[in-house]
Amino acid sequence: MYKIIRKKELVSQIYLMDIEAPRVAKNANPGQFVIVKVDEVGERIPLTICDYHREEGTVTIVFQTLGMSTKKLAALEEGDYIRDFVGPLGNPSEVVMDSVEHLAGKKIVFVAGGVGTAPVYPQVKMLKEKGIDVDVIIGTKSKSTLIFEEEFNQVAKNLYVCTDDGSYGFQGLVTDRLKKLMEEEGKAYDLCVAIGPMIMMKFVSRLTASYKLKTIVSLNPIMVDGTGMCGACRVTVGSEVKFACVDGPEFDAHLIDFDEAMRRQSMFKTAEGKKAIQMEQ
Ligand code: NAD
Ligand code: FES
Repeated sequence: MYKIIRKKELVSQIYLMDIEAPRVAKNANPGQFVIVKVDEVGERIPLTICDYHREEGTVTIVFQTLGMSTKKLAALEEGDYIRDFVGPLGNPSEVVMDSVEHLAGKKIVFVAGGVGTAPVYPQVKMLKEKGIDVDVIIGTKSKSTLIFEEEFNQVAKNLYVCTDDGSYGFQGLVTDRLKKLMEEEGKAYDLCVAIGPMIMMKFVSRLTASYKLKTIVSLNPIMVDGTGMCGACRVTVGSEVKFACVDGPEFDAHLIDFDEAMRRQSMFKTAEGKKAIQMEQ
């Protein structure tokens, strides 16, 4: 059993929780995920790790209430316990785990979308700790759904917030902002990391391919059980078949068949996932 140490509703229906899980915290690295199971009969929820504190033994998760399981999770309070908290799973982000010598001088831009903004944070934080400055673009529906702005202000060199409705920051999609940075504001990036809804990652990938800008994405949204058993997260990467939960979750975006992955996502998804897909469309 894993104790909820801190719970906070960041914005409507998006919650942050610090979970006491010393073994996970000790071994976690940016880019990895955990499987959360609220109770004996609950669905397995794969969530990308949003922060960890090795000394306190806590791991931070951020989730949106979409179906029964995430609603059950959100109903728990500080001091309550979660049945299972398994991890860290998947591979750490190769970008942030790279050596300082290799990273030095690289111009990196992170593109974070919606709830996917939270898992970008530990990556940018670790790069900052290594002395590597990066730019961050956050895209969200409106000012009222923006998360982690303060946190990114502490760790990003430049933070560019965009809202779909123009209620805060730049009005437009993350792809519009990225294009503007590269075409009008003289940014010449060497690497892009995009984490958010599948549709966003698909269009970021399409844009960056046209600039020959190497791009990494995290395929957490197509996972169901996170164990390599259900087959839901099968994805074609170049000429190879991969499983996001075992071989990823991060892959070279320009090698991914996004349309196939998104078709499979809609076939396999649980109640949580189906609602997420409907929200993206
Ligand atoms: P959202 O629908 O608010 O989209 C976030 C941003 O993505 C938008 O503001 C926009 O800038 C951009 N975007 C959306 N459609 C686009 C398009 N067609 N072209 C270019 N840019 C586009 O996001 P949300 O509702 O918070 O997203 C929830 C999704 O995030 C869930 O499906 C969840 O699976 C996913 N998620 C992904 C990860 C990951 O590791 N990749 C982690 C957590 C959550
Ligand atoms: Fe089931 Fe990867 S999520 S096999």
